[in-house]
Amino acid sequence: MLSALTALSAALLPAHAAADEHIVGGSPVSVSDHPWVVALASRDRYGEARSGQFCGGALVGPDTVVTAAHCVSPEVLGRNADDPGDLTVIAGRDDLGRDAGREVAVREVRINPGYDPATNAGDLAVLTLTESLPADDAIRVAGAGHPGYTPGTEALVHGWGDTTGSGGYENLLRAAGVRMLADDDCARAYEAVGGGFDAESMVCAAAPQGGQDACQGDSGGPLVAAGALVGLVSWGNGCGDPAYPGVYTRGSLIAELLDQEGRVSD
Ligand code: ARG
Repeated sequence: MLSALTALSAALLPAHAAADEHIVGGSPVSVSDHPWVVALASRDRYGEARSGQFCGGALVGPDTVVTAAHCVSPEVLGRNADDPGDLTVIAGRDDLGRDAGREVAVREVRINPGYDPATNAGDLAVLTLTESLPADDAIRVAGAGHPGYTPGTEALVHGWGDTTGSGGYENLLRAAGVRMLADDDCARAYEAVGGGFDAESMVCAAAPQGGQDACQGDSGGPLVAAGALVGLVSWGNGCGDPAYPGVYTRGSLIAELLDQEGRVSD
């Protein structure tokens, strides 16, 4: 388990991530209140502990989950996504050490054709499940112009990832409260470390004083504001550092891709 988690951290850590990461705050929540929050798991790759969880995802339709493209990259998945192996979506389970809820195999992985692994632009993949989950558990995706994107709007990010910034993986789902950030402010924050924010496909959120943020292992998990999915955890510099906001795959990109594929987007 230790080696699996070390591999996970190495695979998920962006090249420019700071070594001294901070705590990420937040508190336990239940999937019964946020049923669209799902875990991505592979026991073959990550072992039995914590149900094999390695990323998060969001249920956007009965058989459709969206996640970060980098979560299904060969480095993280350990295989080509064309043949997803034992890749599983876990719904209805707060505690990864227990067996509540449902585990549903992934039938097909579609990586956003615009995804650029070198820059993380367009960090989005669409998973088709082998069985349907309740349609009512899905969350609507916030298209462009949705009020959830207004800077300052309160948002909640969910995940089973690192709670310490240094490999503190626990079993319970947590959520952290953050606020949506203006694109210019996020671009400026990352200019200091070589840039990387792309407003076309990314959106940022952070707690004004830091301390509340997503972290390694949360990738692909939902950022929800004004009742809709505005982002998926993608990357950041450290975790919870007030100088560096959390960067998310922009929800409107998800809406566009789902529309193109003729799937429900809201
Ligand atoms: N890349 C990480 C993952 O794969 C997510 C990092 C998010 N970092 C942040 N500071 N918001 O799990």
